[in-house]
Amino acid sequence: MTQQTILVIGSGGREHALVWKIAQSPLVKQIYAAPGNGGTAALATNVPIPAHDVAGLLAFAQEKGVDLTVVGPEDPLAAGLVDQFQAAGLAVFGPSQAAAQLEASKAFAKQFMQEAGIATAAYQTFTDFETAVATVRQQSGKLVVKASGLAAGKGVIMCPTPTEAEAALRDMMLDQAFGAAGQEVVVEEWLEGPELSLLAFCDGRSVVPMLPARDHKRAYDGDQGPNTGGMGVYAPPPDVDESLIATITRTVLEPTVRGMAERGTPYVGVLYAGLMLTAEGPKVLEFNCRFGDPETQVILPMLTSDLVAIMWACIDGRLTPDLVQRRPGACATVVMAAPGYPGSYPKGLPISGIDEAESLADVLVFQAGTAVTGAGQLVTSGGRVLAVSGVGDGLATAVNRAYEGVAHIHFDQAHYRRDIGR
Ligand code: AMP
Ligand code: GLY
Repeated sequence: MTQQTILVIGSGGREHALVWKIAQSPLVKQIYAAPGNGGTAALATNVPIPAHDVAGLLAFAQEKGVDLTVVGPEDPLAAGLVDQFQAAGLAVFGPSQAAAQLEASKAFAKQFMQEAGIATAAYQTFTDFETAVATVRQQSGKLVVKASGLAAGKGVIMCPTPTEAEAALRDMMLDQAFGAAGQEVVVEEWLEGPELSLLAFCDGRSVVPMLPARDHKRAYDGDQGPNTGGMGVYAPPPDVDESLIATITRTVLEPTVRGMAERGTPYVGVLYAGLMLTAEGPKVLEFNCRFGDPETQVILPMLTSDLVAIMWACIDGRLTPDLVQRRPGACATVVMAAPGYPGSYPKGLPISGIDEAESLADVLVFQAGTAVTGAGQLVTSGGRVLAVSGVGDGLATAVNRAYEGVAHIHFDQAHYRRDIGR
């Protein structure tokens, strides 16, 4: 096979990890990242096309003869990038617009799960504010109010009382706090238990799970403070065994792929199930239609197989478990964020020490909100600046490696949690 040109779409730590793993494939000769970041620049050619510019990305892929396009974030998937690339005869790894509805519409996902018999929180969907409020007022327990559409991970409001649920409905449906995403809302039962992220490769018929992961969403130690895009992740969680993974595969992942195929919208790409491990068994909190960020920064360092070969197997409908091999042990990643994140934060802070951290054994640095200035200085350019991953024979070693890496990296008032995986 002639060596391939790959285009990776997106600009986060997830995309740096994807580029890093793809660069190891013997199938690959060249990688473009659109738009990429300071980290992808070292392994790929960054091209300044934003991830939402589907027409611009398609024109670029055609012009450069890109063999395979890999989509990081959800927005271009929900906008139909895969359909447009396929219509133009280009291979792309990710679900179609119809299949991406599993993430892009929580109302769709809930109804799909109900029809497919997949365990999830009890719920109701509303498009009318008055009806939603009247229903919520009849409830007594804790509720979760969710904007149905894409809201960059922010459209979920935990409501300990009906009064708070009413306020959340007002924010979403009347004040449009999440824009069009909140025109339709899902109100659901508040589930209790530890959370788990289980991502899987899918080829439209078959599903192969990746390493299970658990993330830390709150900004501060001890799970305090506001929700973020994720301050760290570890994999695998010690309380999750092979039999639980088998149960989730059988009761969630396989019925999802089967149900999507039966609807005539087969699911190809990464299916990410966000789960609550309740006393009654695992229940789905949400589906994402892509790799997680920062889950990817722990899953890919553990994957020993060729990622590009796996992606082609998904596209060609010949995915088998033997294609997805991983090393034993564990991986943890610690996100270093700009001061103030997830609120407002400064940009342009000079970053030092990445080379020193990367020179340590079993330490990897994945950049996210970074940029290189005209003078060649690496600076911060986003809230989550980078993630430092450590690999080890066990979780404790992996966590220690990650923090050894963190200790070498400096930017003014860098914020990170001290308790990832601990
Ligand atoms: P989602 O984007 O739907 O995964 O929600 C984001 C976070 O909100 C989840 O990771 C959970 O921590 C929390 N969450 C969402 N739905 C529920 C629920 N029904 N019960 C309890 N917590 C939830
Ligand atoms: N880390 C959560 C996500 O990628 O959606």
